[in-house]
Amino acid sequence: MATYERYHCWSILLRLFHWMFALSIVFLVVTGFYISNPWTNTLLEGSASFPMATMRYIHFIAAYVFSAALAIRLFLYIFGNAQERILDILPVTRRNLNNLKMTFLQYTYLSGDHDERLGHNILAGLAYLLTFVAAVVMMLSGFFMLYPEISFWEGWGVLLFGSQQSARYLHHLLMWWFMIFAVIHIYLCIWNDCTEPEGLISSIFTGAKFKHKA
Ligand code: HEM
Ligand code: HEM
Repeated sequence: MATYERYHCWSILLRLFHWMFALSIVFLVVTGFYISNPWTNTLLEGSASFPMATMRYIHFIAAYVFSAALAIRLFLYIFGNAQERILDILPVTRRNLNNLKMTFLQYTYLSGDHDERLGHNILAGLAYLLTFVAAVVMMLSGFFMLYPEISFWEGWGVLLFGSQQSARYLHHLLMWWFMIFAVIHIYLCIWNDCTEPEGLISSIFTGAKFKHKA
């Protein structure tokens, strides 16, 4: 029988980032859909209640939580523990390139071998990095739409997106990345937990994973 040992892998800050990010996105997507295409009777607006104002209010509260989460992740990419730093997920070392290849073969069912490591596998790490970049674009386009009269946001907004309308269009399109990512992400976390007894899902709550005893 294999013997496993418990290792600490995620700091409390990383776990805080994860749940701030994941939960704020749920609120942002639901309220974002409403802002884009309100589903209540518009006669309600300004009479019995203010559904659009409420949805926008929730969107902006969630947006601040989302932006704070991004600041935490940026900090951890630079100053986090060995698993959290950006170098751990880039395919720039022999170990990481090997992990990328092994993960690809395992995910495509071409091989049953699993590369045991404490941090993210490189495929997952790259998907998370791409999501981080998409999140920065959401934040910039969002604040540009929110504060077009503030010269800082106007300057960056016009430089990056050209106009308010193109910022809104990109903001809307990119929302789909987060929804598609969440579905694949949750599926792969469950798949990994079923195939390898590393305690992957519980690690995002407890910060600990299990590896074969050295
Ligand atoms: C993953 C994160 C986010 C998602 C999925 C999301 C989604 C959306 C969607 C779908 C819309 C409607 C766009 C349309 O009119 O078609 C919207 C509007 C908007 N979002 Fe976001 N958003 C996110 C993050 C943010 C952030 C970080 C901010 C920063 C303040 C922000 C600010 C805004 C603003 C100002 C609007 C326009 C509101 C209006 O027209 O009244 N969003 N968002
Ligand atoms: C039931 C819901 C969820 C569970 C159980 C879950 C679980 C996990 C686990 C176990 C990891 C670490 C996986 C690894 O080592 O590769 C992780 C990482 C991550 N998850 Fe989730 N997740 C959930 C929802 C979400 C959602 C909705 C999002 C955003 C759309 C999200 C975004 C991320 C990101 C960005 C990371 C990487 C963390 C980092 O930057 O180091 N998760 N999640």
